[in-house]
Amino acid sequence: MEKVQEYIGKHRERFLEELLNLLRIPSVSADPAYKKDVLKTAKFVASALKKAGAENVEICETKGYPIIYGDKIVDKSLPTVLVYGHYDVQPPDPLELWESGPFEPVIKKTKNHPDGAIFARGACDDKGQFYMHVKAFEAMFKTKSLPCNIKFMIEGEEEVGSDNLGPFCKKNKKKLACDVVLISDTSIISNKVPSITTGLRGLSYVEVEVTGPNRDLHSGVYGGAVANPINILSQMIASLHDKRNRITIPGFYEDVEVVSKKERAEMNKAPFSLAAYKRELKVKDVHGEKSYTTLERTSIRPTLDVNGMWGGYTGEGAKTVLPSKAFAKISMRLVPNQDPDKITKLFSKHFKSIAPPGVKVVVKPHHGGEPAVTPTDSVEYQAAHQAMKKTFKKEPIPQRSGGSIPIVALFEKVLGVKTVLMGFGLDTDDIHSPNEHYGLFNYYKGIETIPYFFHYYSELKKK
Ligand code: BES
Ligand code: MN
Ligand code: MN
Repeated sequence: MEKVQEYIGKHRERFLEELLNLLRIPSVSADPAYKKDVLKTAKFVASALKKAGAENVEICETKGYPIIYGDKIVDKSLPTVLVYGHYDVQPPDPLELWESGPFEPVIKKTKNHPDGAIFARGACDDKGQFYMHVKAFEAMFKTKSLPCNIKFMIEGEEEVGSDNLGPFCKKNKKKLACDVVLISDTSIISNKVPSITTGLRGLSYVEVEVTGPNRDLHSGVYGGAVANPINILSQMIASLHDKRNRITIPGFYEDVEVVSKKERAEMNKAPFSLAAYKRELKVKDVHGEKSYTTLERTSIRPTLDVNGMWGGYTGEGAKTVLPSKAFAKISMRLVPNQDPDKITKLFSKHFKSIAPPGVKVVVKPHHGGEPAVTPTDSVEYQAAHQAMKKTFKKEPIPQRSGGSIPIVALFEKVLGVKTVLMGFGLDTDDIHSPNEHYGLFNYYKGIETIPYFFHYYSELKKK
């Protein structure tokens, strides 16, 4: 292991330069205007894997953006780790809120990152995090100390729902056969408090369209006599939560796993300061489901949020108009054992039922994803635990996260393997927001920790 860490130490500067180059390519999967750049990023990843020492590197075409595969089989009798990550990023909007260009990475110090952080879209989610694996692999390969077989699968459509990944996994079961999936695409509690993610929420995402009159009307001539779809949509959305901030859709909580008092008490022992949380977000108070703590509200409880809402006139000045249509994008975060398809159906039925006769409602389902929980008593969890303990010199804490990585449930179903979620970001790194960043400490800590995971995993598997 010394040789590996020495190699990492010697190549630190180059490891950073390479990541900055990767961050310079705007691989926004949601917007077709970036298609060329997304494909350029796919090539970059394939070439980086080859240079690091991977074999059988392939740019696998799909109906959407390609999936990059590469492997290094040291010995068929050794365990195989499949590393998953994504090279696509979220759109950078709103651009005007960025302090520097989203695709012109710069390094700046922050309160949480006194050693500096890389500011760029994708720095933390997920380019900076998956690239740690490429560099950790390079260090193990070049020093001839790779203790497991390794397979890489880096996709380009995670931020748009991974539509083509399921079919790809089903078609390539043999190629992807492994003992465990390892993903760095989540957070730790803080740079002083390491943690391992043991759960992810699921997702049901819908778009709704409310139509009133057949055309935009004069809001004086018709106002008061015809349903205004924006007024109605606002009322409908407001009614989706009750006074206790519980979701009012009939049957919504039916399958929600009841977490035991003991487990909840354990969860709430994790270091968390409500005062610091509020201060950091500049809010006077938090807001959520009654009788649950903030940690519980963002992990073991489902939610419903409007992500965007539009309609009518939003330009300069005032235009008096009673719009014909109103729209909203709504996401529901789900917990075990809620089923995204069932929830989408329940939403759809309920939402249509609460519409007054003066409007028409269309509900369009977008992508969804199942929640996931990972065991803490497994060999792979122990390997991650020991690896983090070694490099942080502190015991990592198991913690469920509020985010979603829908393919985790899929890996279990299709490949029959568990996932280890060993991410190194911070929740305050502003992923999906302007000024996304990733700590240099976190990037290097990840590269340092990953080889220990491989080491402990191979040791524990021998037993
Ligand atoms: N890496 C995130 C998920 C995440 C972030 C998990 C932080 C835990 C902590 C991932 O790229 C993501 O953004 N997922 C989407 C879902 C997807 C279907 C678009 C999400 O959670 O909104
Ligand atoms: Mn991600
Ligand atoms: Mn993301």
